[in-house]
Amino acid sequence: MTIPPPNLSLAGRRALVCGASQGIGRATAEALASLGARLTLVARSAEKLRTVAASLPVPEDGPHEVLVVDFDDSAAVRTAIADLIVRVGPHTIVINNSGGPAAGPIFTAAPEEFIAAMTRHVIANQIIAQETVPGMKEAGYGRIVNVISTSVYEPIANLGVSNATRGAVASWAKTLSKELGSFGITVNSVLPGFTDTERLGSLIEGRSSKEGRSEDQVADTMRGLIPAGRFAAPREVGDVIAFLASPVASYINGVCLPVDGGRLASI
Ligand SMILES: NC(=O)c1ccc[n+]([C@@H]2O[C@H](COP(=O)([O-])OP(=O)(O)OC[C@H]3O[C@@H](n4cnc5c(N)ncnc54)[C@H](OP(=O)(O)O)[C@@H]3O)[C@@H](O)[C@H]2O)c1
Repeated sequence: MTIPPPNLSLAGRRALVCGASQGIGRATAEALASLGARLTLVARSAEKLRTVAASLPVPEDGPHEVLVVDFDDSAAVRTAIADLIVRVGPHTIVINNSGGPAAGPIFTAAPEEFIAAMTRHVIANQIIAQETVPGMKEAGYGRIVNVISTSVYEPIANLGVSNATRGAVASWAKTLSKELGSFGITVNSVLPGFTDTERLGSLIEGRSSKEGRSEDQVADTMRGLIPAGRFAAPREVGDVIAFLASPVASYINGVCLPVDGGRLASI
């Protein structure tokens, strides 16, 4: 008797990968492409997206797509995703990921900052889901994975607007997972810990000038909070996202999964 291995294959599936021009999104694109998915890479920078697309293995069913859109413009997101689906067909895997809100305390944040962050994260996710879920239902297969933050469990000091927005995305995802579970669609969220990307670099830079300490000192303090003793490589997050997007993760639905080297104190 042969025992089949876990089914991680994404051959024949289309994936929409948001924030794919760099960092965690790019690493996720690499992981999904390595499992055979045909991708649509989304962000604002066409040139960077084309560079990422050219670096990926080309799937048997055709080349990867690039889609330039700004999640801060909800009407443009609606049009771009609707047009994409008419043009190239349904996407049964969606990775919701975008640039994090600016750092700062919550008390002094302007109301407009909350509106902007909710537009980029919650509203963009909602529009993308509304445009892609019909195709997932038809296929009887759907995977929505949201890149959020460990702040869902433990709010992070000086990331006020971000903390509030991340909680909203987690709650949106959990609610959606209940509504879509019976269609073979899962909605899960990955909570990256400190991951070695441009976003982390700019957070370290900001803390360094605020606290009057060198960037190395700030980075060392942050590493000291992580049992693993180091920052994550982007692929360590991207690979987990690809797992959740794969057939083998069919019975995982509605979870928030920290990928943080053990940093969170909560169970
Ligand atoms: N790195 C960490 O340690 C860490 C930890 C916890 C949570 N996170 C969160 O995880 C997410 C990804 O992190 P990262 O470190 O990979 O971030 P990153 O390096 O800043 O990458 C963000 C990606 O989102 C795209 N993007 C930004 N604003 C956009 C917009 N308005 N519309 C469309 N695309 C947009 C960027 O491309 P363009 O500029 O070309 O549009 C880029 O591809 C962020 O939300 C971040 O806050 C990161």
